[in-house]
Amino acid sequence: MKLILLGAPGAGKGTQAEIISEKFSIPTISTGNIIRAALKEGTEMGLKAKAYIDKGELVPDEVVIGIIKERLSESDCQGGFILDGFPRTIPQAKALDTMGIAIDAALSIEVMDSEIVKRMSGRRVCEKCGASYHTEYKKPAVEGVCNTCGGKLVIRKDDEPETVLNRLNVYHEQTEPLKDYYKAQEKLLIVEGQDDVADTTALVLKALSEI
Ligand code: AP5
Repeated sequence: MKLILLGAPGAGKGTQAEIISEKFSIPTISTGNIIRAALKEGTEMGLKAKAYIDKGELVPDEVVIGIIKERLSESDCQGGFILDGFPRTIPQAKALDTMGIAIDAALSIEVMDSEIVKRMSGRRVCEKCGASYHTEYKKPAVEGVCNTCGGKLVIRKDDEPETVLNRLNVYHEQTEPLKDYYKAQEKLLIVEGQDDVADTTALVLKALSEI
């Protein structure tokens, strides 16, 4: 299965990607995670991307298209993959088409902006491995500590309320038009994000069973 996950920041793409990835034994490719890892390592690309991420802006298309081209050429992607956070603009979607990547579906998880703001304020991420938690919806076993690696849980810099509002604006302006793009290709699936992760997963799996 070659799947794109669409949705506003904080709609639950990363959460669902993790679950689907395990269920179907296919890798998740998250451009956000790749960029954050590069930033942590202090690579040239990471440093270039920092200013955009911190403001909640999109990193330039040519940078992320380069990342995706390289990643999709790796052997573990040949049997399928989940793209979490790519494409995010029409030029990125066109680049994917030009690469000859035939996706099976673009699944959009729909959540109201007001709910997103609430979710983002409670998100905590592991500074070591990047695992994601929530103060209310997905608590770690020990407060402030990652279940997987024991790393410290912190607030992502771009989860500050003002930056979240900008990310939402960017989403509506630049990423939401992708729904029409994939609708025209008859690849668009829509799932209403639920308050409970498992309820959302049930709807996601139902939608995927129909492709
Ligand atoms: P990226 O990391 O991709 O961020 P995002 O799309 O803004 O997505 P998030 O990770 O914030 O949210 P999510 O939908 O994965 O939600 P999650 O599952 O974590 O990108 C970051 C930045 O990198 C961008 O702003 C941009 O600068 C750059 N970038 C990345 N890709 C790019 C591209 N292609 N082009 C240009 N720039 C790019 O859930 C959120 C929280 O809610 C969690 O705490 C979770 O536990 C909780 N939660 C999830 N589901 C539920 C539920 N059903 N009920 C209650 N809580 C829930």
